[in-house]
Amino acid sequence: MSRRLATEIAGLKLANPTMLAAGILGLTGSSLRSVVEAGAGAVVTKSLGLKPREGYPNPTVVQVDCGLLNAMGLPNPGVRHFGEEIKEVKETGVPVIVSIYAFSSEEFAKAAEVAVGVGADALELNVSCPHVEETGAEIGSDPELVTKVVRKVKNKVDKPVFVKLTPNVANIVEVAKAAVEAGADAITAINTVRAMAIEIETTRPLLANKIGGLSGPAIKPIAVRCVYEIYREVDVPVIGCGGITDWRDAVEFMLAGASAVQIGTAIAFKGLGVFKSVTRGIDAYVGKKGFGSVKDIVGLAQNF
Ligand SMILES: Cc1cc2nc3c(=O)[nH]c(=O)nc-3n(C[C@H](O)[C@H](O)[C@H](O)COP(=O)(O)O)c2cc1C
Repeated sequence: MSRRLATEIAGLKLANPTMLAAGILGLTGSSLRSVVEAGAGAVVTKSLGLKPREGYPNPTVVQVDCGLLNAMGLPNPGVRHFGEEIKEVKETGVPVIVSIYAFSSEEFAKAAEVAVGVGADALELNVSCPHVEETGAEIGSDPELVTKVVRKVKNKVDKPVFVKLTPNVANIVEVAKAAVEAGADAITAINTVRAMAIEIETTRPLLANKIGGLSGPAIKPIAVRCVYEIYREVDVPVIGCGGITDWRDAVEFMLAGASAVQIGTAIAFKGLGVFKSVTRGIDAYVGKKGFGSVKDIVGLAQNF
């Protein structure tokens, strides 16, 4: 692995700037480990809550033009039961970021404490899930609630706290600023875009939950815009996410201002080889442009 690729996000050392996005292959230690073995610089777990949750009935994921539509309903075994899984992937030495969700700021703080107790190297607060009531985007679209959640979590734990934002708001920068002022160590942008699809023969919505979140190439320009706008207003690293399928996409996010990128849906379409092809491509681009480090390209598009 080229030394040019090494980077640091809020004190976490990454061999390269790619991460697994929350919710894809993040539910067991062995699947997280397979992502590490495929070359990810860090992994994010499936979002975990204080209590186990079943999620929604099927269909929970459908393929649409240029992406996936999902409404899983946050199925998970509960953060307390995730210790063994985390242990398995921590043996690799790659940072493990535990994604948590909750229904109140107090519950977020409790889940954060438990997550750190079971071995999280950092936390990613999911205040952006678009399809579960009273959590996710219902919190993340209100800057005051975001402030409350981040403050409570930061008071409880001393690991880096990333806040993952929803694009389903009028002003994502306002929410990012609220998170950072409350102590967020990094911002992840973005979660899925609220969306739906209808089967015209049966006349039924395709997802059991009817409305879900769109991911994949369809949302990339939205995500790039969010990263670009957030980068200029906050002084913590921004982690880009949304529709990254090849190294060019990753470079685009970094030029917009992302210090690292997360990859989700592309794994379903291209397999785990996507991590190696993206990191090789970023490395070649950085070298070709005459830079010594991947950090040198972050935010370059802001100069115009
Ligand atoms: C099937 C599926 C499940 C997801 N589950 C979660 C989750 O549990 N927590 C979360 O923060 N984001 C979740 N996401 C959102 C992704 O982490 C990511 O933000 C989004 O899919 C955009 O990136 P992508 O286009 O690379 O997939 C999920 C996405 C998909 C497709």
